Amino acid sequence: MGKAAFISLLIAALSALLGERIVNFRKVTLASRELVQNHLPNCVALKNLDFGSEDITIIGDGLAFISTGLKYPGIASSDTPGKIYTLDLKDSRMKPMELRMPRNFDLESFNPHGISVYIDPDSIYLFVVSHPQHKSQIEVFEFVEDNHSLVHLKTIKHELLHSVNDIVAVGVDSFYATNDHYFTHEILKGTVEPLLAQPWSNVVYYSPEEVKVVSEGYYFANGINISPDERHVYVVDLFDHNVHVLERKDDNALVSVKSVAVGSLCDNVEVDPETGDLWLGCHPNGWKFFMSDPKDPAGSEVIQIQSIHSDKPVVTQVYADDGQVIIGSSVAATYGGKLLIGTVYHKALCCDLK
Ligand SMILES: *[C@@H]1O[C@H](CO)[C@@H](O)[C@H](O)[C@H]1NC(C)=O
Repeated sequence: MGKAAFISLLIAALSALLGERIVNFRKVTLASRELVQNHLPNCVALKNLDFGSEDITIIGDGLAFISTGLKYPGIASSDTPGKIYTLDLKDSRMKPMELRMPRNFDLESFNPHGISVYIDPDSIYLFVVSHPQHKSQIEVFEFVEDNHSLVHLKTIKHELLHSVNDIVAVGVDSFYATNDHYFTHEILKGTVEPLLAQPWSNVVYYSPEEVKVVSEGYYFANGINISPDERHVYVVDLFDHNVHVLERKDDNALVSVKSVAVGSLCDNVEVDPETGDLWLGCHPNGWKFFMSDPKDPAGSEVIQIQSIHSDKPVVTQVYADDGQVIIGSSVAATYGGKLLIGTVYHKALCCDLK
């Protein structure tokens, strides 16, 4: 074979491979899924949250913590620095309030992603995944209610925490975290890895004494949370459309119990402390989400899972919008008959549950 013939054969083979990979990525992202509107009553957009509200968590007395201003490679974002807000769901004004940040903390590079709250008898701790200069680290703060501020306690970095998406705190300085990618390099992360679509993403346990991979084999490990009795951990795989249920062992290892299909690209998971129900903010059409074409916006979907530990978990679509109202929902959390829906880079809604 001549050199020219070889090169054209090689190009043809590579294009066929790339074509096959794109077809696969369209399948994984549910690219041809059309959404039927399924709205809730009395939805209002929350003030001050126009640049995303990627993660939300609500503590027992109805105070929601909200991360906003995420900058993530390949996804639309604003130039405004990241911030943390609270919203008191018992206050009918529904006005998110920005938390005052400590003076000794670099606000410019603060890029908050997944959050988790840990409460002990004396204090409320807020754990925040942050990506300064596209790196991954965990910032641990104490929430001071009196002056509505955060006090910075420490920054946690570790080679195993290389591409962190979400965390769930299980102690004052210990947590489980998801790594959503295998690669750390921007280009490999943003284009090569989604096309390869290999189950190389994982879950890490961190404590000052021990850091270890406790679960692996995910295509894109995303949201993580824990059952109210702290015996089970839930891991959401964005690309395999499942919530994975894992049992916690004494040494904090995780053992796979089962997975529950959700039929959507789910992002963060919140757990109702009273019912144990799971609430998921999902991307009903991930292709549209990644393309982010303003003329053909991605929609939003909220899914609830009841009785997840029974033989027949009940998976219910609670809210769906085709992108006319709210684009790219990443989290859903409930309190007192209200549903908060947060997004990666768009607005946040508060609706009444039917
Ligand atoms: C808020 O109060 C705490 C505890 O008294 C203090 O350490 C912190 O510096 C205060 N924060 C701000 C922003 O004033």
